[in-house]
Amino acid sequence: MTTDKRANFGSKLGVILASAGSAVGLGNIWRFPYETGENGGAAFIIIYLGCVLLMGVPIMVAEFLIGRRSRANTAGAYQRLAPGTPWKWVGRMGVLAGFLILSYYTVVAGWTLEFIYEAATNSFADKNAEGFIAAFDSFVANPWRPLIWLVAFMLMTHFIIVKGVEKGIEKSAKIMMPALFILLIILAICSISLPGSSAGINFLFKPDFSQINSNTFLSAMGQAFFSLSLGMGCLCTYASYFKNDTPLSKVALNVATIDTLVAILAGIIIFPAAFSVGIKPDAGPSLLFITLPNVFQQAFGSIPLLAITLSIMFYVLLAVAALTSTISLHEVVTAYLHEEFSMTRKKAACIVTTSCIILGVFCSLSLGVGKEYTLFGMTLFDLFDYVTAKLMMPIGGFLIAIFTGWYLDRKIVWEEITNQGKLKPIIFKTLVFLLKYFSPIAILLIFIHELGLL
Ligand code: TRP
Repeated sequence: MTTDKRANFGSKLGVILASAGSAVGLGNIWRFPYETGENGGAAFIIIYLGCVLLMGVPIMVAEFLIGRRSRANTAGAYQRLAPGTPWKWVGRMGVLAGFLILSYYTVVAGWTLEFIYEAATNSFADKNAEGFIAAFDSFVANPWRPLIWLVAFMLMTHFIIVKGVEKGIEKSAKIMMPALFILLIILAICSISLPGSSAGINFLFKPDFSQINSNTFLSAMGQAFFSLSLGMGCLCTYASYFKNDTPLSKVALNVATIDTLVAILAGIIIFPAAFSVGIKPDAGPSLLFITLPNVFQQAFGSIPLLAITLSIMFYVLLAVAALTSTISLHEVVTAYLHEEFSMTRKKAACIVTTSCIILGVFCSLSLGVGKEYTLFGMTLFDLFDYVTAKLMMPIGGFLIAIFTGWYLDRKIVWEEITNQGKLKPIIFKTLVFLLKYFSPIAILLIFIHELGLL
């Protein structure tokens, strides 16, 4: 593999949108609200914002620099920058994490397809909150339906991955991201105007610090890593396609801002509506899927055509947001197999797709017919989520921070982050401080705290 044979992202906007496309996804719209709901609301969000700014942005810059400097897949990147050292294991762990995340993430992505179908066949009409909950439960418990959607979604991802980087990823991100954003704003306005929605706004913005427990910090940190696609080499792989003059810290800040705005918007849609119709905020992974149909029903139910159009649009855009994320996860594993085991991209992609479908089937069944089979008290689905978001990604982030802050030659770090001196020294120094000291120590403290030792 030679450097110049690797594809490049076409334009600057394309770079930001593709990275933002990886970051913005179910993590923001599905996972952020339910984690916020389970962890008590506003106080969790404040800790989350701290994690995004003080750990997320610097670690994202670090991943960008590792990827662009090495111009290789995640595992190969460490081999190039630190040949003959165990650092390659950070990359390999990232590939494994990507593989696991893709397996259970696609299950939920498949749900969005079911909801497109339900919206199109007008099955939201005449249901109340209990009706939506019952319908969702019976859908997830059905042994076949979720699996069919799961396979369909994985094949869509596969198709785009095989078509190549620039044409697939960049184009879909450019059109769909802004459309999603606009629709989210419309829905947020609708949700706020529902009767009794103010309780939801209070839940989101009035912090109650007595809600914080040992788990809150780990959950907030895990959510930050998950939502920003950090700690497993995803953005590192994307950055290997960046151009040499892409300003890494600016892109990182932009991506983090877009990602956070979408998450907060999703919160503004979910909680006012949930409180308005009496759905508990700690409903867990089903929260988005049982709350949102209520918004369409309550706000537009009297004009069925509008309700149907808007709900189809929303679920299509949600599916696309999920798709730009599954593509980025798939790409990590595919690029690894393709470059490290010198197989064709197509063959690599086929292996990833097939094995993720198999694992995904088990994850999906673990929520329905296989509910009673648990490991460490969790279903396979929950276990995959826990192991990746709350263990592997923070550990990966920790090691990435150590790698760039302590191991890598400072000159390389400076050249990449500042693009040969084109960044204010104070910003560079702050980023290095956060990578060298703040992020590793904060991640360690959160782990120690979670283990009950602090
Ligand atoms: N960040 C994406 C989301 O919010 C999911 C995702 C894509 C991801 N790539 C990742 C999560 C890499 C962790 C690591 O939906």
